[in-house]
Formats: sequence, C-alpha cells, structure tokens
Amino acid sequence: MAPGREITLLGAGLIGTFYTMTLHGPRSRDRVHTVCAATDEEARAFASKWGIPRAVSDIVKAVEDPETDLVVVGLPNNLHKTAVLAAVRAGKPVLCTKPLGRTAAEALEILEAVEKAAVFAGYLEDLVYTPKTLKALASVAQGALGRILWVRSRETHPGPHSAWFWDKDIAGGGAIVDMGCHCIEIIRSFVGKDVRPLEVLCTADTLVHPIAAEDSGIGLIRFENRAIGQFEVSWTFRGGMDLRDEVAGTEGTIWLDHFLRTGFEMFTAVGEGGYVAEKAEGDKGWLFPVGDEVHALGYVHMFADMLDALDEGRAPRETFFDGYVVNAVIDACYRSAASKRWEPVDLAVWRTSGAEASKREKGVAADDSRFKLIKEEKMPDGKTKRIMKDIETGEILQVVREG
Ligand SMILES: NC(=O)c1ccc[n+]([C@@H]2O[C@H](COP(=O)([O-])OP(=O)(O)OC[C@H]3O[C@@H](n4cnc5c(N)ncnc54)[C@H](O)[C@@H]3O)[C@@H](O)[C@H]2O)c1
Repeated sequence: MAPGREITLLGAGLIGTFYTMTLHGPRSRDRVHTVCAATDEEARAFASKWGIPRAVSDIVKAVEDPETDLVVVGLPNNLHKTAVLAAVRAGKPVLCTKPLGRTAAEALEILEAVEKAAVFAGYLEDLVYTPKTLKALASVAQGALGRILWVRSRETHPGPHSAWFWDKDIAGGGAIVDMGCHCIEIIRSFVGKDVRPLEVLCTADTLVHPIAAEDSGIGLIRFENRAIGQFEVSWTFRGGMDLRDEVAGTEGTIWLDHFLRTGFEMFTAVGEGGYVAEKAEGDKGWLFPVGDEVHALGYVHMFADMLDALDEGRAPRETFFDGYVVNAVIDACYRSAASKRWEPVDLAVWRTSGAEASKREKGVAADDSRFKLIKEEKMPDGKTKRIMKDIETGEILQVVREG
C-alpha cells in the first residue's frame, strides 16, 4: 500500500471542510498538514478543529511547505489560477475544485501550465463520483440504456453561503458558473466524454436577488452525435438542495435523486439544534437528513480516484481538460443568454480518449428489412399493435395481432 499523502489545503471554508472530513475519514492515511485561509486567525481555528499542524494565510508559503507533497485548491474562483500556478512553480501535484476557471480562457491557461510542467492535476468534480452516479455510469457503459439521447441535470438551492459567490467578477458569473459546471460534467459523463459538445441554447435571468449575475438559468447542449443535454440551475429554489439527474437512452431510463426525498425523511417538532444537511432551510418540521454527506456527494470516491491515480501514475477520471471543456460550455451559455440564439462551443483544444466505442450502441441492431418497427405496444384488450414504416413507400402502417 502506498504511503499516505501530506497535503496543503488552500481554503478553509465549506469545501475545505468537506475535503478535510473526507481526507481525514475513517482509517485514512492521508492528512492535511498545512491549511491556508484569508487570515491567520481563520486558518488557526480550522487547524485546531481538524488537528492540522500548520496554519498560514499566505498561499505561496502554504504551497511551498517542504513537508507537503500535494496541493488541494478550495479557494474562491478568482484564486484558482493563482493557486494552481503556485503549485506548478513548486512542482507539486495539484487538485482543484470546480469551476476550474471563471472563463475558458482562464481554464486553458491553467490546463496548459500543468501540462507544460508535467505536473499531475485532477479536477475535483465530486458529483460524477456519487455512488449512485458511478453505478449508473457503469450501467450506461455496459449498454443497459442503449444509445444515450437526452440527459437532464438539475441543481438548485436557495443561494450560496459566502459573499464572494454573489460578486460576478470574483465568481465569474452566477448560478450557471457555480452549479451549471456540475450539471455539464454530469451530462458529459453520461453522453460520453469523447462526444464533442457543439452548441448551446441558454436562458438566464436574475429573478429574486439584487445582484448583477444570474440567479437562474436553463441550458440545452447539443452534442456531435445529436444527444441533448439539459441543465437547470437556480439560487432561488426554496426547500433545501435539489440535485437530480435523468438519463434517457434508446433502451432504458435512469432517474437519480441525490439529496431530497432519498429514503430518509424525518419529522421533528423541536429540532436537535444542529446542522441537518447542506443548504437545508431549517431544522424543524419535515426534514431530509443525509446519512453520510461526504459519501452521498461523491467526495469519498473522488479523492480515492485522485489519490490512487497519483500513486499509480495514471490520469484520474476528472482532469483539467474536463474542467476546461466545462468552462467552454459555460462561456457559450453566457453568449447564448445574451444573444438569445444557439451559440457554438469554442474549444481551442479537443481530445478524445481513443478508447474503443462503448457497448452503448448494442441496442441498435442493424436492420435492412423493408418494414422498420417504430413502436410495439400491448393494448388493454390484450392485442398487440405494431406500428411500422414501409421504407420503400414512406407509408406508416399498423398491424394488430391477438395476444
Ligand atoms: N461541490 C463542490 O465541489 C463545491 C462546493 C462548494 C464550493 N466549491 C468551490 O470551492 C471553492 C471555495 O468555495 P467555499 O464554498 O469553500 O467558499 P467559502 O467562502 O466557504 O471559503 C473560502 C475560503 O477561502 C479562503 N480565502 C479567501 N481568500 C483567500 C486568500 N486570498 N488567501 C487564502 N485564503 C483565502 C477563505 O478564508 C475561506 O477559508 C469555490 O471555487 C467553490 O466553487 C465546490
């Protein structure tokens, strides 16, 4: 077994907390050795809570700590580039939270910097690592759904927990860059990451909050194989955090609900005075607690893949290239929201894995017969109806048989 990692964690906020809970999880051999926050006081408080030996407020000092061999970036979006470039200068492997950049141009700079320096890098997109998503992706890869036609991904909650998210310049946008990034990568994962996203139609608006950025957005992504991705994001949703995905293929369907109404529902008239789940709006009445939040949100499998990949000298499931593609789709969304038209996804770099075509196409049997089946259905009277197209005449016809 490879030895554990000594980690520099940049950022001691919400994501720094989830990352540390995961990295210091049951029987883990990995440890956050140095934590960096905006002030020494905040860093020290976090360090004392989590048993972390070193606390600083200087990003470069934290990254260059000779006792750490991995940098994890959990800083506000405007600092991702600074942090990754500092890791590159120090020659240290680096994992960066979502979104990789505020724009595709920023993400491309980040991608090129790690690649030029041959530094290991991983994109911390936890929501493609939830146990449910990993199982669903495996079923899709085995061909259980046939050809994927449509993927819908939704993330909505009542709005983020820190001031910087609401500042368009610091964050790079509103709900679309904040949460659309998750949905876009979930959609890409189901459609197939080798399938190029071509164009985007998006609407965005600021419905509730007094901010310059959008607090709501809906987007459609058309892929080169004509699959459609659909995302819905909002900072105006009331009632907690709604994370749901739907996948539709020629041979099957998957519905995933990650956070609300997942089988754990609790009523309490008095509450218990504690935290219920991320973005829960209250602690009394009907509640949707989450059994193990870092598992349910994918952090455990995400860090396992990242750290195993680093030990094994392979690429993780989520790379900085993926982060760059996500940013390019988001850029197209913002252009489309302004132009009210389909806008192309501009990708200065496009790569495919070169892997063999998956089994996804297995439900699509070659058919050279004259009559092509459109639909077969068992009717209430017990008869079976077959609707077909005569490809020589173009006629649509139906045949009804007993039983
Ligand atoms: N599911 C996810 O993957 C997920 C969830 C939440 C946030 N995020 C991402 O994580 C990043 C941080 O978000 P958050 O929710 O933890 O924010 P947060 O506001 O809770 O925490 C931000 C942290 O960064 C520190 N910081 C700010 N400026 C700094 C500076 N100049 N030097 C050193 N430290 C500085 C703050 O002190 C704080 O500890 C964002 O990019 C966000 O998009 C990802």
